Amino acid sequence: MNIQEIIAKKRDNQILEKEEIEYFIKSYTEEEITDYQAAALIMAIYINGMNEEEITNLTMAMAHSGDILDLSELGTVVDKHSTGGVGDKVTLILAPIISSLGIPVAKMSGRGLGYTGGTIDKLESIPGYKTNLSIEQFKENVKEIGISLIGQTMNLAPADKKIYALRDSISATESIPLIASSIMSKKIAAGANKIVLDVTYGSGAFMKTKADAQKLADTMQKIGEISGRETICILTSMEQPLGKNIGNILEVKEAVEFLKGNGEKDVQEVILELGSNMLKLAGKGEDLEENKQKIKETISNGKAYQKLKELVQHQGGDVSYIENLEKFETAKYILPVISNKTGIVKSLKAEQVGKISVELGAGRIKKEDKIDPSVGIILNRKIGDSITEGEIIAYIHANDEEKGKEAVRKLQDTYEIK
Ligand code: URA
Repeated sequence: MNIQEIIAKKRDNQILEKEEIEYFIKSYTEEEITDYQAAALIMAIYINGMNEEEITNLTMAMAHSGDILDLSELGTVVDKHSTGGVGDKVTLILAPIISSLGIPVAKMSGRGLGYTGGTIDKLESIPGYKTNLSIEQFKENVKEIGISLIGQTMNLAPADKKIYALRDSISATESIPLIASSIMSKKIAAGANKIVLDVTYGSGAFMKTKADAQKLADTMQKIGEISGRETICILTSMEQPLGKNIGNILEVKEAVEFLKGNGEKDVQEVILELGSNMLKLAGKGEDLEENKQKIKETISNGKAYQKLKELVQHQGGDVSYIENLEKFETAKYILPVISNKTGIVKSLKAEQVGKISVELGAGRIKKEDKIDPSVGIILNRKIGDSITEGEIIAYIHANDEEKGKEAVRKLQDTYEIK
């Protein structure tokens, strides 16, 4: 088999055979084909798409590019994954909540992709937190404290790790076959038997319309069925950023505040919706409203916050940062964004906000780029809020003054005030 022929086939919008897909995944994982050849094929898939059978074959080949964990000894293990968003700190909040309610959480998360953030980059902004545990340690932590959140650094779905970084640097993110195979290969490899997927739509999501998000959800659900993992998908809007902080340390701080009972309303809605379904899937309660109540309780009695601290400690993180958020590094320049109008915020496109945050250094432009954990954006006003000319609508956190000033100008333009 040869990679040029496979690229040409997809370039010409033909259907790839299972063996061709397996050959590509194996050879790319083993570095027998180059990044530029893989980039060409990925772009051809992005442009011409894949049918259902091709997507399933791609997912299975990616899942089997490394080890497949067997977590059956841990009982019902629930996993959660989002198709991506801006300001999306849901995993940092929801994983400890679910674990504090007695359901083991074993989750492999991703890094930032395009203009969306990634849980692993956020967790790594906690000094000492290790995202690259061995499989034994990962399982051990789940057994011991009921939770572990890791990255793709061990031999789980290594093909996704490579393709994910490549897609990020060639603008090939918004694609149903590529997103579905990326997420489901990780979920299958990480071993959870119940999966809740947060499928986002709107300006800050990879699926711009609800109809496309539904198609992506249907595709992933079908792969879940084929692989014997009970999967449910919840569609959530990502028209504007979620919550008020965007950027790695800033989002960790917002997540901790949420677990201490100071959560933003839009974040709370997503947490309750996803969390109540996770409890149901784990067999802990059929009634979603009762489940929401349990979630509120585990926050108000401090158990979810304690669980986050336990998680950080068990993965080598310095828990004193969680206890005292002031200890986190702050950016050199904190620049106010002043409203030049009086009125109501009509729109605040999450994609634009995400791109501004990436340019500040919170995400990667090239796949080798290092994240700057302290930079980002704090939104004082969101859609529907009123504002008077001269008031501060947001703050830019920057380590480079020029980039910071540019971000102020861009964010001012992103706010549509009427
Ligand atoms: N999350 C992933 O893991 N992969 C994607 O492609 C998008 C979001």
